[in-house]
Order: sequence, then C-alpha cells, then structure tokens
Amino acid sequence: MDVKNVTVVGLQWGDEGKGKVVDALGRTCRYVARYCGGANAGHSVNVRGEKFALHLIPCGILHPGVVNIVGNGVAFDPAVAWEEIEGLRQRGVKVDETNLLLSASAHVVMPYHKLQDSLSEQSLGQAKIGTTARGIGPCYADKACRSTAIRLGDLTRPDEFRAHLRIIVENKNRLLSALHNAAPLDSEKIADEYIEFGRRMSKMICDTGSILRKACKAGERILFEGGQGSMLDVDHGTYPYVTSSSVTACGIPAGAGVAPKNVGYVVGVAKSYASRVGSGPFPTEQDNEIGNAIRRRGKEFGTTTGRPRRCGWFDAVALRYAADMSGVDEIALTVLMDGDDTIETFRICTAYELDGRRIDEYDPSLPLDKVKCVYEDWPAWKTPIASARKFEDLPSEARAYIDRIEQLLGRPVGVISVGPPRDATLLHHSALKGFI
Ligand code: IMP
Repeated sequence: MDVKNVTVVGLQWGDEGKGKVVDALGRTCRYVARYCGGANAGHSVNVRGEKFALHLIPCGILHPGVVNIVGNGVAFDPAVAWEEIEGLRQRGVKVDETNLLLSASAHVVMPYHKLQDSLSEQSLGQAKIGTTARGIGPCYADKACRSTAIRLGDLTRPDEFRAHLRIIVENKNRLLSALHNAAPLDSEKIADEYIEFGRRMSKMICDTGSILRKACKAGERILFEGGQGSMLDVDHGTYPYVTSSSVTACGIPAGAGVAPKNVGYVVGVAKSYASRVGSGPFPTEQDNEIGNAIRRRGKEFGTTTGRPRRCGWFDAVALRYAADMSGVDEIALTVLMDGDDTIETFRICTAYELDGRRIDEYDPSLPLDKVKCVYEDWPAWKTPIASARKFEDLPSEARAYIDRIEQLLGRPVGVISVGPPRDATLLHHSALKGFI
C-alpha cells in the first residue's frame, strides 16, 4: 500500500502510548504536527534506555531532519514549552527554527488560565472534572470568547500585546476575586515575561498551516500526532468529563490547517487494557486488586501530573466507536502485558447491558455509569513477552487475544508494543512495513 500522510490517535482515555508509535513512524516523515491539546499531554519516548517525556513539543523532535509543528489548534503554554526546549537542548537534542515551528494562531495559555483551572476545580468539589490544572479549558474558553484571547503571534507585537493584556487582566482580576477571592495578578509583570518568551521563540513563530498545505501539494510526508484520547474528545467523548479540544482525526483539518483528505492513513493506538485519569464514567474499571495489579504492571501513573491512573479491562464497545470516529485503518496495540498471580484471565468487554437490554454499539448518550459490562474471558499468559520481536514469538494465548481484538474491532492489529524500548515493537498485519 502507498501510504503518504499518517495520523496517530489515541482510542481510549489518553495515555495509550502514542509517543512511542509517533517516534517509530516519525523517522520517515518530513513533518510531525500536533493539532490539539496542550501541556496536558504527556508523551513518553524511550531512546536507547533514555526516557524523554514531552508535553508540547512533537515527538518527532528526537529524529534529526524532521520538522516539528505545533499547529493552530494547540493550547500553547510558552513557559512549559521553553522549559521543554531548554531541557532537550541540555540533553543534546537540537531544537531551533529549522526543526520546530509554532503556529502564530495557536492560543496562548496564560498564568490566569492555570489559576482559573485550579480554582474552579477546587470550588466544584464532587462536580469537578479532574483536569490536569494546565489551564487548558480556560484557554480554549477564551479562544471561543475571542475578546479575551491571546494568540502566539500577539507576543511578537509587544506594544499591542501589553495594551490588550492590561484590559484582559483587569477583567480576569475582577472575575477571580469575585468568584474565588483570589489576589490580583500584575499585568505588566506578565507582559514582560510573555514578551520575553515571544522574543526567544520569534524565529519559530509562523503560519504553519501554509507550510503544511505546501507539503501536502509537494507530496512530503506529514505525521499528525494526536493528544489525549478519543473518549476525551470535547464533542464525541464522555462529556462533560472530557478535555476541551477535538482530539480525534476529525480535529486535524481545523487544528492543523489542512484539507480533510490529507489526514492520510490512520493508526489508532490502544492499550491491551484500559486506563483513565480524572473523573468520569469508565465501564470496565476495576477499582479492586485486579485494577491495582494492572496499575502496578503497566506503571500507570500520569506523565504530566503523576496521578495514579484508574485501570480496567479492554472495552471493545467504546473502542469500536472511537476507531470509527477517526476512520482508523489499523490498530497499534500497546502495553501488552503478561499475567501474574492476581491476573489469571484477561477480560474483554464485548457489549454493555442496561436494564436487562444488551447494547452492542456505543452511544454517547448512554448513561455509562449505569451500564453493566458483558465480558469474555481469555486465559492470561504467564510467559514474559518483553523479548518477543515477531508475532510468532508471542505465547499462543496472547496471539488468540490479539486475534479476538482484531475480530471485535473489524480492523487489523498492525503494530504491537511489548515494552518501552524502540525495538520492543512487533509488526503484525501492518501496512506500515518500511516505515517502522
Ligand atoms: P484537561 O484537559 O486538563 O482540562 O483535563 C480534562 C480531562 O482530560 C481530565 O480527566 C484529564 O485527566 C484528562 N486528560 C487531559 N489530557 C490528558 C492526557 O494527555 N492523558 C490522559 N488524560 C488526559
């Protein structure tokens, strides 16, 4: 198959291991572009035993020759980005305007967004979303509000920016003081700091959409790197317990500035079980010893916040929905693990039940916190699998489990990850041979 552009999206509630898949595929691409989310994302990549945790910079930064793009759909936090850029440079990774470009139209996460995010969550008690407190929601809210928004290009026009910020901060101070009794923020201090960020990054700030559209015309390969996971999509996820951007492949045209037909070949990433951080329904959750065992074995603690993740079984119902939403061509199955004394079987949820009625298809209006899961049990394999390098190296129980996932999702499992290192990656029914 002639694969041109590639998209990598998460099919669960984030933390599916997209970083590793982007890293594996990005090598052969000219551009790696982020189109959604912001510093709420945490993409981990393991390069020869060295771990990199990236939040805002696309994972292609670790490949020489790849141009990394932060698209207009990203909520861009310059403070986090600068720390990340400096951290990468200190570790010998080149980061400059030849390999990192930032959209002038990306919305800027400002200090008051982070404050708003955490104060609002604190005040909501049980009704909180469980956000990452990175200011993502308030930043996108200002994007929709327009008059109180700041875009990255604004930081390169200091006088206009300073004057606009004065008005915004005055407005935010009134709001935050009235709602949360917060101390006022100093607009001049923030302006100084953010103008300095604009100066440091000025060579990288440009119209990234036109660069990507030209690349599409020239047939240069682009990889679109999704953030979060489909079930956290603002429109199609488990609303209101979602993030604030369009994270499925449907978000690419708007968030990167390319035509829909350029989304290309879509790889949907899913773990061999499920996890979720923050509040919200999670039908296959195992809030018990099994969940603890999965967390322990999968090292399920947040890359961005360090929070322990909620863990549970593979949910084929939600996954089929997510895969359809993004038009997934093949699945990358990650964190395939082996069983232990607590985990004797791996369970797959194949349908839900509500008031005695069987439900085979996910419907976003379902009261997910009330559905019961219908499970299939698959014998767990106890043989360690981390050293497997081809499908045939896997124990027969693991192969049967993967065959069943393919059947249930109606798509090939193309890539299988058996551990963090780059080479702990198996190609199975993949159209991406030659890419990885
Ligand atoms: P926010 O994006 O920080 O507003 O958080 C909204 C919800 O999305 C919370 O449940 C977060 O835990 C979750 N979330 C946001 N980004 C990620 C991610 O990259 N991985 C996993 N969960 C995320």
